[in-house]
Amino acid sequence: MGQQGTVPAVRSRKRATGSTPLVMVTAYDAPTARIADRGGVDLILVGDSLAMVVLGYEDTLQVTVDDMAHHVAAVRRAGPAALVVADLPWMSYHLDEADTVRNAASLVRAGAQAVKLEGGRRRAGMVAALVDAEIPVMGHLGLTPQSVHVMGGFTVQAREAEAARTLLADARALQDAGCFAIVLEGIPDVVAGMVTEAVEVPTVGIGAGPWCDGQVLVFHDLLGLEERKAPKFVRRYASLGADASAAVEAFAADVRAGRFPADAESYHLKDEVAASLWSAAQPGPAADAPQAISVGSGGGGPTEGARRSR
Ligand code: KIV
Repeated sequence: MGQQGTVPAVRSRKRATGSTPLVMVTAYDAPTARIADRGGVDLILVGDSLAMVVLGYEDTLQVTVDDMAHHVAAVRRAGPAALVVADLPWMSYHLDEADTVRNAASLVRAGAQAVKLEGGRRRAGMVAALVDAEIPVMGHLGLTPQSVHVMGGFTVQAREAEAARTLLADARALQDAGCFAIVLEGIPDVVAGMVTEAVEVPTVGIGAGPWCDGQVLVFHDLLGLEERKAPKFVRRYASLGADASAAVEAFAADVRAGRFPADAESYHLKDEVAASLWSAAQPGPAADAPQAISVGSGGGGPTEGARRSR
């Protein structure tokens, strides 16, 4: 865990000024936030990728402000030093400014220090309204997953010159509206480099090549928590999914073979308590005694269990 992250500190991190690249990862709950924070990231994004990565949906359109707030609060409870940014979900910033500010405020009250929204010039008014309400905003351009149906899938954007020029104009509009940083997702490296040069706020890339001011990856992707085929921009730094399955398999084998739990993994009674309980449970003159307590029957059986101390 490093120094407490702030919006102005992130805003100042243009690589052209000699800064080291910004590092952002997603996190969706307290343990993932703690792991990310211990890893020394600058920003934690409670992304609406929550829908696909954690909740099992096909796209990101299914999560609500309440879903996001629930997960933002869990991340906040981890007490990260990294700046916590929360995604505004689809339809939470599209209708009117008051609705947008109210939704963003719910995420801030849950623990976010900034919000992120997708789209360019068409969202500039909403960005300005949020900034006016003292809510810092991160933009998101290129492959914007909330536009999956318009894009016809999760496909690389701005491959043609005209689309690249439009993206550049969108980035300038977001900057002018007050965004403190802009995520560039799924665009050619040269386009991301051009946008990064053109705007004064830092860009954070994902599938956008090496010339952004920072990089972001989804937590589960970089740790290899799922064995599905990842997009080519994902670099896996671990294979935790395979490790986790192997661990569960070993647990199942130990239980089935009677190797778990071991003596050291069990709680024990004092000898005299165990002996008196056990004799009360034997048939005979004491059989009228209450039978409510049963002595465990695992391992070497109840007799051995009763003999063990503590
Ligand atoms: O929701 C998310 O995880 C994101 C990142 C891919 C930038 O928006």
